[in-house]
Amino acid sequence: MAKKKEKQQQSSAVRKRVPKKRATETAESMAARQRDISVSEFFAKNRHLLGFDNPRKALLNAIKEAVDNSLDACEEGGILPEVEVVVEDLGNDRFRIAIQDNGPGIVKRQIPNIFGKLLYGSKFHRLKMSRGQQGIGISAAGMYGMLTTGKAVHITSRTGKGRPAHHFQLQIDTKKNRPEVISDTEVEWDVEHGTLVSIELEGKHMRGKQSVDEYLRQTAIANPHVKIVYKEPGGETITYESSTDELPAHTKEIKPHPYGVELGVLQAMLKDTKARSVSGFLQSEFSRVTQRVAEEICTNAGLSPNAYASRIGRHDVEQLMEGIAKTKIMNPPTSCVAPVGEEQLVQGLASVVEAEFYASTTRPPAVYRGNPFIIEAALAYGGEGQEADAPARVLRIANRVPLLYQQGGCCAYQSVVQTKWRNYGLTQPRGALPVAPLTIVVHMASVWVPFTSESKEAIASYPEIEDQIVRALQECGRKLKIYLSRRKREAEAQRKRDYIETYIPHIGIGLRELLGFSEREEQKVVTKLTGLLERHRDG
Ligand SMILES: Nc1ncnc2c1ncn2[C@@H]1O[C@H](COP(=O)(O)OP(=O)(O)O)[C@@H](O)[C@H]1O
Ligand SMILES: [Mg+2]
Repeated sequence: MAKKKEKQQQSSAVRKRVPKKRATETAESMAARQRDISVSEFFAKNRHLLGFDNPRKALLNAIKEAVDNSLDACEEGGILPEVEVVVEDLGNDRFRIAIQDNGPGIVKRQIPNIFGKLLYGSKFHRLKMSRGQQGIGISAAGMYGMLTTGKAVHITSRTGKGRPAHHFQLQIDTKKNRPEVISDTEVEWDVEHGTLVSIELEGKHMRGKQSVDEYLRQTAIANPHVKIVYKEPGGETITYESSTDELPAHTKEIKPHPYGVELGVLQAMLKDTKARSVSGFLQSEFSRVTQRVAEEICTNAGLSPNAYASRIGRHDVEQLMEGIAKTKIMNPPTSCVAPVGEEQLVQGLASVVEAEFYASTTRPPAVYRGNPFIIEAALAYGGEGQEADAPARVLRIANRVPLLYQQGGCCAYQSVVQTKWRNYGLTQPRGALPVAPLTIVVHMASVWVPFTSESKEAIASYPEIEDQIVRALQECGRKLKIYLSRRKREAEAQRKRDYIETYIPHIGIGLRELLGFSEREEQKVVTKLTGLLERHRDG
């Protein structure tokens, strides 16, 4: 029976299947349409991948890309950042945004490529902690503006005193992913060094949770060294003063760690390397690979350390991957990541959220996929501005940049929900945020933040990252618990004192009536008792 069925199936597979008649293509006719797709064309169609999927988000995103760049540039130049953000409402859902910084400026010949070409930047090819990483931020914002309003991007930049300020008007040729310079002039500019970017775009201005205001407010929390002046479309100016004059610690660029490398990347690196031998290649292209470690990797891979790097075939690369996995290699150096710092994080938080109690924790460095990272967490509890019977607010920050979208899909948010807040004296419905007058901040600092998409809105869930976030939150939770139980004890003592205080005059009267105390004697006892209570209160 079973055999018969098999036979039937076989014969139907062999039988030639003929579809119903309709217009068909040939390989040749299809070939006529097969061609390259430029990155800008791709992202013009898929702008949601970069976070430009609706006007409200687009306005926020364009500002965010420019501000992130300004802060990165200032810090790299060792300058305390002062950034001005101006948003003008031009009517008909059009806005002009202008972001000016006091950074090192941009040399003239680089301006067109930076603002008029997607995937062009200084941060992608290095492993260093920075806000930008893909080289797609500001040019995408400019492209979105151009697509929705037809207007060019305006850039003014000066690299130092005595040097000319350059003004450019640029558009992107999306077909070729190339800048088109509309004008290029030297101008008068009363700024010693810095950059001003102005983009006209279709947008929507709203206040509240995912607004420009909120982004800037949270930026101030994670960047207490930054001064931001924000001129709103309504004409009002909000200033976030800096609360410290200390720049974030200088971070070093590192080489990739062998544990994080993928097969294809390893293959490409082998092709590019200047090193002659495999052992030399491993030592020069990776961090934490000494000669001894390189030799061990080769032994574990069954390869000779002296084999020519350029002659390593595909099979050998696979073996090399195995060799790396089998070898114990020290964790990457962590001088490449700089946390905000426990004290500064509280300073930043306190300047924006008024609360009764603050706590913060900076975890020791850890590693995911070969990339070092540091997790920090902070809490602000109580205070009039925070609702007591609403879920806590979670502020997610990655390399000092606030993340405002895709909360549910973010590892930071999921870790907050996973943490058992009941252990720390808070109410928490199952699988939800704790309900308390509470703001929770989670910061991930890393040479490479694993975002779930190019729009950089949510952190991907790696077990190592989740684990660190939960630990950081637990540490803050324990501090909160101590505060809450002290507060409870104090409230209890106060209740008792109040109780006794009400009865003191009655005690006096009782003493006079029962024991025949004089008024003076009665007063003496009352004063003594009141004094004792006061001393108890003052601790
Ligand atoms: N305001 C600025 N000041 C100085 N350099 C800038 C500024 N904005 C952008 N840049 C340079 O332009 C590059 C591209 O920026 P961007 O497209 O946002 O990509 P990314 O920030 O991911 O590298 C940056 O890497 C930086 O070198
Ligand atoms: Mg950028």
